[in-house]
Amino acid sequence: MSISSRTPRRVCPKPVHMGTAGTRISPELLPESESVCTFSCDLVGSGRRCLALIYPRPPSRRKILDNIGIQTVTPAKALRASPNILDVSSVMGVFEELGYLWQVVAQLFPGKPHFKTEDIPDLTGKVVIVTGGNVGIGRETIKALLQHNAKVYMASRNKDKATAAIQALKEETGKEAIFLELDLSVLASVRKAAAEFLSKEPELHILFNNAGVMWCPIEWVTADGFDMQFGTNVIGHFLFTELLMPALFAGTSSSPDHHARVVTTASSGAYLNTLDWDTFKDTSQRKKTSPVVLYNQSKLANAIVARQVAKQYADKGIISISLNPGGIDTELQRHAPKQRAIMRATILQPVAMGALTQLWAGVMPEALNHNGEFLIPWARLGKCRKEAYDDEVGQRLWAWLLEQTKEI
Ligand SMILES: NC(=O)c1ccc[n+]([C@@H]2O[C@H](COP(=O)([O-])OP(=O)(O)OC[C@H]3O[C@@H](n4cnc5c(N)ncnc54)[C@H](OP(=O)(O)O)[C@@H]3O)[C@@H](O)[C@H]2O)c1
Repeated sequence: MSISSRTPRRVCPKPVHMGTAGTRISPELLPESESVCTFSCDLVGSGRRCLALIYPRPPSRRKILDNIGIQTVTPAKALRASPNILDVSSVMGVFEELGYLWQVVAQLFPGKPHFKTEDIPDLTGKVVIVTGGNVGIGRETIKALLQHNAKVYMASRNKDKATAAIQALKEETGKEAIFLELDLSVLASVRKAAAEFLSKEPELHILFNNAGVMWCPIEWVTADGFDMQFGTNVIGHFLFTELLMPALFAGTSSSPDHHARVVTTASSGAYLNTLDWDTFKDTSQRKKTSPVVLYNQSKLANAIVARQVAKQYADKGIISISLNPGGIDTELQRHAPKQRAIMRATILQPVAMGALTQLWAGVMPEALNHNGEFLIPWARLGKCRKEAYDDEVGQRLWAWLLEQTKEI
């Protein structure tokens, strides 16, 4: 959610024609010493080091953002800073990106929720999987599901942590979740977990694709050679969902509303960068990219894939929704302890709030009207970055994911 600590603070003196949003800046035009035009990289969403443009009101919020490493500058100041790189399309891009940044800021301060876990209907007979449910937002999600009598599988990679969480949840709710071993960063583990689930349960009613990793060291790649954040957050969940589709189809017939749901936890990071296809695998381009940017693109990809799931399977009764859960105080920022401390002191909300939006998507009848949509905190309909609605991008990513996962 924040911007790379390597963000340069200089204004590029070179006149560079930026083209439309999404254009990559040619490295020859931007030698390392000048590395990046102060604000334009973010405008073109190039996936390189960048500076966020934010113009929040009131100004006190701006200070908070400055403190957590999101640099702020008014649009007028930005235009004055780099007049020589602007053309009409990039000016349009400025305002588009500013709109996205405004979404990020606004969603950090969502106001009072209109939905509470007490509103959840009885879930007796519903079979649910929550990935990464041993801590954080996933754990809170499982807690509410158990309290409303769902049968819940906690799909986690660490048996000891999961067992301890299941025990603690049993003490809190009187109900017991079931451990399902799943490491999303190992596609063989994803296949094994799906096979194990299918051997036990003919039907699945709700799949919460909740697990995620953020800002991990750039050296980290998955067992199958993908960027760790893209591999875990996107590829692992894509394969898991596809393998579980027969159970989800079966779940539609036993569900009173004749639907099964796939709920994918994206992030406000989805607004901040577009996809950089050269970074999904462990390439030299990936190594040059900030972990913050890699996280953001993985979360945009979550929203893109979720919308494609909706498109592919709507006629089979599948509802697929993605969402930003809000800025929540969890272990997610574990790889950035300094930013975590500042964010905890300023903007992060209690963990129980983080489960609200995905619970609404997963269990409330009204959510059936929002197939393929993106929700924002707390449980409101939002609009993600435009690539999420671009079928050309969605189909290309879907085909790429199918290709990458077919042999593993
Ligand atoms: N917290 C926020 O402010 C925020 C904002 C926007 C979006 N989100 C999203 O919300 C979701 C939940 O995050 P959180 O805040 O609850 O973070 P968290 O407390 O760190 O929980 C993340 C969960 O994902 C699991 N996980 C990570 N890598 C995995 C892998 N390879 N295989 C299986 N499970 C794995 C973790 O397991 P271990 O316990 O074993 O590490 C943990 O259970 C994530 O998708 C995140 O991107 C969070």
